Amino acid sequence: MGARDESDKGRVADGATVDYFDRHCHEYGRNRIKGVARLIRPYVGGDARLIDVGCGTGGNLDRLSRALKITDITALDASDSSLDRVRERLPHADVRLGSLVDEADMAPLRGQFDVVLMAAVLHHLVGRTRSSSRAYAEAGLREAARLARPGGLVVVLEPVFTPQGVLGSLAAPNDALFWLKRTVTSVTSERVPVLGYWSNIGAPVVSFYGYSEVGSMVVRAGLTPISRQEREHPLGWPDAFVRRGDATFVAQAPGGGPLRPRGSRPRQRDDRSRRERKQPAP
Ligand SMILES: C[S@@+](CC[C@H](N)C(=O)[O-])C[C@H]1O[C@@H](n2cnc3c(N)ncnc32)[C@H](O)[C@@H]1O
Repeated sequence: MGARDESDKGRVADGATVDYFDRHCHEYGRNRIKGVARLIRPYVGGDARLIDVGCGTGGNLDRLSRALKITDITALDASDSSLDRVRERLPHADVRLGSLVDEADMAPLRGQFDVVLMAAVLHHLVGRTRSSSRAYAEAGLREAARLARPGGLVVVLEPVFTPQGVLGSLAAPNDALFWLKRTVTSVTSERVPVLGYWSNIGAPVVSFYGYSEVGSMVVRAGLTPISRQEREHPLGWPDAFVRRGDATFVAQAPGGGPLRPRGSRPRQRDDRSRRERKQPAP
């Protein structure tokens, strides 16, 4: 794992982030999940086990499980009031209050799931600094990957902000936003919107990454990407130094052999029968 701050040691979830999501339950990317269902449908049947880590109010879990006719679903989040909404919405779900970066919460669930979904969570795994946040994000993604059975699928959806050109790398927009929010949240734990609800420089602190940075994290978590895409959302003049997009990575956990569509059987070499076929008829 990368360096965590001394002051971050022993933390299992960022208290301010959990407190924020207990007070504000958002739902993200309603439409993105349709694309995920299309991508993974060939490999996933209705008997699959699905977990949504950092599930929020359960909108994605609801939509993905319906689209794939999956009934065995688990919802995990660090915010109990978000989970209250999941309990109402999906009464048959196994609902778990826990933190992705807490080994004790994650260990009992490891290796059990055919599909692990992690949507809009990486940028909320924050430490005191950018580098400790990156270490948390990587640790969280590694834990998510370990929930998959051998050869299972891990789907990472993440809003990404990719610096552009010299100005982008000089101004390091993701670092600047992190430190701006760190500073503002030392004064207030409330949202501080400027020019509209989403341009918020207050709580929660977020640590965004670029598209290829998230791709590298996926690979470092031991996963093999089978599909990746970025949908861009132009911002106007800021596009000159940062490109905003939604990243989707579908990746396979190690150990299960090559991924095959359901119903297709692996071709087996049968040397004996081939030899027999070659024998001339008696
Ligand atoms: C932006 S919301 C995304 C919710 C949902 N996945 C979606 O796409 O609509 C981020 C979620 O991550 C959860 N979260 C933050 N830190 C967490 C942690 N350490 N462990 C588990 N969940 C966490 C928050 O409580 C929140 O529900």
